[in-house]
Amino acid sequence: MFRYVARSAAGKHLLRRGYATESAPDRKVAVLGAAGGIGQPLALLMKLNPLVSRLALYDIANTPGVAADVSHVNTRSEVTGYVGEDQLGQALEGCDVVIIPAGVPRKPGMTRDDLFNINAGIVKGLCAAIAKYCPNALVNMISNPVNSTVPIAAEVFKKAGTYDEKKLFGVTTLDVVRAKTFYAGKAKVNVADVNVPVVGGHAGITILPLFSQATPKANLPEDDIKALTKRTQDGGTEVVEAKAGKGSATLSMAYAGAIFADACLKGLNGVPNVVECSFVQSTVTELPFFASKVRLGKNGVEEVLGLGPLSDYEKEGLEKLKPELKASIEKGINFANQI
Ligand code: NAD
Ligand code: LMR
Repeated sequence: MFRYVARSAAGKHLLRRGYATESAPDRKVAVLGAAGGIGQPLALLMKLNPLVSRLALYDIANTPGVAADVSHVNTRSEVTGYVGEDQLGQALEGCDVVIIPAGVPRKPGMTRDDLFNINAGIVKGLCAAIAKYCPNALVNMISNPVNSTVPIAAEVFKKAGTYDEKKLFGVTTLDVVRAKTFYAGKAKVNVADVNVPVVGGHAGITILPLFSQATPKANLPEDDIKALTKRTQDGGTEVVEAKAGKGSATLSMAYAGAIFADACLKGLNGVPNVVECSFVQSTVTELPFFASKVRLGKNGVEEVLGLGPLSDYEKEGLEKLKPELKASIEKGINFANQI
């Protein structure tokens, strides 16, 4: 039986361990899907983040072990594990940031959209609970297909009367992480110095890295730019195929998810000029959601930044991605609004 409910003497939590003695503001972060391939390393990385004071780990199974394990790491946050739907509310109460890597991953031959039928329902249920228990939290959506799950979340929040477009983020940081790595390799520059914006969405050709804006400048030939663009767009598939049926990117995704959650926390804490790419409600194009650089602040999105100058190749890529992205967004909206 998967529904494992063990309560502490206080009758409330599965596990409660840790330290909350530092002076940074109290910040509660929840990971939903915390026992999964992404969830476990992401839980560890969030435990290492000194901006987190309370870390809630939720899954439908196996969270007690993950929470016990992570809780032994001698960092600031107090770790609490929650398992099963009847503990979801407790996991979410008081959250500042909720990270959602819950749902099934791809196998070779599948597109991210093939995950829609299962993951759409999972995300819808989790977002209904967020609307109820922590309507002010920043939501970091990792579950695929991100191009549809973010619109689903928006519709669920609208129905609940809690939607704030500044607080809903599709996590596209892994595309940026990949673009940086691949560019540094090709341009032979220090990867730690590299910046590459990635815009659009998070699936195939909807992922549009803007290598014309990459720094440090390297003046790579057009063929190299095309190859780098394709590799960034197919980065997820590269991992899915290498894992040969055992899932998709988990470790690099946990890293990317931790970077994005850290940026959200810094923004909440008033750190100035925190900028990351994310798939958000947007007027940058005619599409209602679009990934671009976003400035993060005390209320979430402070400013959605424009695309900047694009090369002809990028302009072409932008026009090509719009029909697919539009269809994925509409699919999510329609799903959320069906009776
Ligand atoms: P996984 O199967 O290893 O883990 C998923 C976890 O979600 C499991 O522990 C499962 O029990 C849990 N889960 C299922 N239903 C749940 C529910 N209703 N509530 C809470 N938890 C629930 O999968 P994974 O490799 O960790 O991938 C998770 C998702 O992240 C997939 O949809 C994958 O496509 C996506 N992903 C996104 C990106 C991105 O860049 N945004 C990158 C990699 C993976
Ligand atoms: C990724 O980009 O690695 C994720 O979206 C997972 C996938 O299915 O490719």
